Amino acid sequence: MGANVALRARRGGGTWARRLWIAGLAAGAGAALIGARRFEMAGPTHVVLAYNELGMHCMQEDFSEMMILPPFNTLRAQVIDRTHGSPEIVTEGVTVRYILPDNTRSADKCNFWTYDLALLGVDLPADVGLGGKGMAGTMSLSPERDWQAVGIPVTPIEDSGRENPYPLALVSVDQNGAVVAQTQAVVPVSWEMSCNICHDDPNVSTATDILMDHDRLHGTNLVNAKPVFCASCHADPAVGSPGQPGIPYLSTAMHGAHASRMASANLENECYACHPGFRTSCQRDIHSANSLSCNDCHVGGMTGLGDPGRTPWADVPSCGSCHTRAGFEFEEPGKLFRTSRGHGKLMCMTCHNSPHAITPTSTPADNLQAMAAQGHPGVINTCTVCHQTTPDDPFPHRLTE
Ligand code: HEC
Ligand code: HEC
Ligand code: HEC
Ligand code: HEC
Ligand code: HEC
Ligand code: HEC
Ligand code: HEC
Repeated sequence: MGANVALRARRGGGTWARRLWIAGLAAGAGAALIGARRFEMAGPTHVVLAYNELGMHCMQEDFSEMMILPPFNTLRAQVIDRTHGSPEIVTEGVTVRYILPDNTRSADKCNFWTYDLALLGVDLPADVGLGGKGMAGTMSLSPERDWQAVGIPVTPIEDSGRENPYPLALVSVDQNGAVVAQTQAVVPVSWEMSCNICHDDPNVSTATDILMDHDRLHGTNLVNAKPVFCASCHADPAVGSPGQPGIPYLSTAMHGAHASRMASANLENECYACHPGFRTSCQRDIHSANSLSCNDCHVGGMTGLGDPGRTPWADVPSCGSCHTRAGFEFEEPGKLFRTSRGHGKLMCMTCHNSPHAITPTSTPADNLQAMAAQGHPGVINTCTVCHQTTPDDPFPHRLTE
């Protein structure tokens, strides 16, 4: 892959003045302060960089009839101590907290908590997700040595009622009662699934239309079994469901069965019929800026995704299948981008953000973190974000020395 001259040129050009106001934060004014001034990060001693596990999480808007995906976002953060000779990944001695200042509740915005028992056999407390996390709380250490809050049940509706698929989380790091670092990161979520483009029987809801088609074509009786959890029969790694023997994966079934149906709708981007979407534009990153479309990476499109020989959520694109650059390594062998680590054993997402949101992006909210950390958007390429001084040695992008 050729060099991106514009991005390169900016590296080193941006001087990062660390603007400190730890006193104010320790006094508990953190969220308000951040709300007022969105470009500040704390800390001469520590830095925290946060990211969502997926570039976009989809969920149902209404759970009364069917559920493909519940509200479930996984926010992660890498904490780095800058006080030693080399940057050190912090795995203990701190408390890492998250809150979504403009989006603090969910149970009054969607009916998931009314149907959780019927759908999943668990009766969750309001505003608590399937990973046990609420809309604010503490993050736990992950196997990859970053911090994570698994399954935050966020919706795309802010407390003000405004729809925003890119709500911001505030992540802060406490040490001995003082905030030593903080950042803001997008927790992307959308319920823009446009099944109604085709499932549009005017006499019934979109979900009922879908369930009736399923019953007619496959001899099931889903219309009388509402609310229906698709993954109770179709295996789905996204929700950890093994499904039932002989029934295809949900993703395989959906893409395979719909592949031949898409042409009739004559859409500019057929993936946006079900993925978010024509309004949300979840593919918003450096790649869309370079005119790459879904199928440039998801080679084979609908038919490829529906191939019964493929394992959904595991056989996904890799950076290394396109990018070859001398001295660079990309995904760790046998791992996906979202669990791989590179330079200094940092998560790839620490510097690049999530797939479909590889910075710089066209959504201002995704660029805030890099702006605050180094004064320009894009990959974290300013050494002194983590190192006390710019190292003399060249930048080892790879994990292995
Ligand atoms: C481009 C048009 C189109 C879109 C968009 C679409 N469908 Fe369909 N879907 C169809 C058609 C056509 C059928 C077949 C209807 C029939 O034969 O009665 C169908 C059938 C189905 C079936 C029955 C099982 C089968 O054999 O396929 C399910 C379930 C289904 N769709 C779910 C969905 C969901 C969920 C969405 C949105 C996430 C969606 N569809 C979006 C066109 C579409
Ligand atoms: C009670 C079990 C059950 C549930 C629940 C269920 N399905 Fe199915 N589904 C099946 C069976 C059985 C088939 C037929 C599989 C086959 O022919 O190989 C099927 C087929 C399909 C197909 C067509 C696959 C193909 O290759 O033609 C789609 C699409 C589909 N289901 C989507 C859904 C969606 C979406 C939901 C949730 C709204 C759902 N299913 C819920 C059992 C179920
Ligand atoms: C007719 C609806 C529909 C269309 C059109 C569609 N998808 Fe999907 N897709 C789904 C559903 C539903 C899921 C979620 C399945 C789950 O929960 O695992 C999904 C999941 C996925 C996944 C994750 C699971 C996996 O198989 O790895 C990928 C990747 C994906 N879609 C890519 C695409 C791309 C690329 C396109 C356009 C070529 C596309 N989809 C078009 C319905 C659709
Ligand atoms: C530059 C390449 C690229 C483009 C363009 C791209 N994807 Fe992906 N996609 C990926 C990678 C890489 C992954 C898996 C990463 C991982 O899980 O580690 C992925 C995973 C997914 C998933 C699984 C859930 C998730 O977010 O990880 C879905 C759904 C998906 N893509 C849909 C789409 C759709 C729809 C489009 C177009 C609107 C698209 N992708 C465009 C590279 C791409
Ligand atoms: C289908 C091939 C393809 C895949 C898969 C892909 N990229 Fe790219 N990427 C490109 C192209 C083409 C560009 C445009 C700029 C260029 O030509 O270098 C680009 C540009 C970039 C840039 C801008 C910097 C530069 O050197 O130009 C970054 C950073 C980047 N990609 C990261 C990633 C990451 C991270 C992944 C995996 C999550 C990924 N890419 C997956 C094709 C791909
Ligand atoms: C410490 C921050 C950091 C980490 C961690 C990191 N990268 Fe990078 N990455 C960079 C920088 C800086 C560049 C160079 C961007 C440029 O040339 O403008 C880059 C470039 C890339 C490119 C574009 C290469 C090209 O074609 O020019 C890809 C793809 C990429 N990284 C993927 C990954 C993957 C996969 C991981 C995890 C295994 C990872 N990165 C970890 C900072 C990082
Ligand atoms: C996001 C944080 C981050 C950024 C940005 C970053 N590094 Fe690092 N770097 C680390 C971590 C963590 C280590 C691992 C230190 C260790 O293992 O003790 C490391 C290690 C190194 C090492 C190995 C020697 C040592 O100090 O342990 C070199 C050389 C290095 N980085 C150079 C660079 C250069 C040059 C840049 C800027 C282009 C850069 N780094 C940007 C976090 C970062």
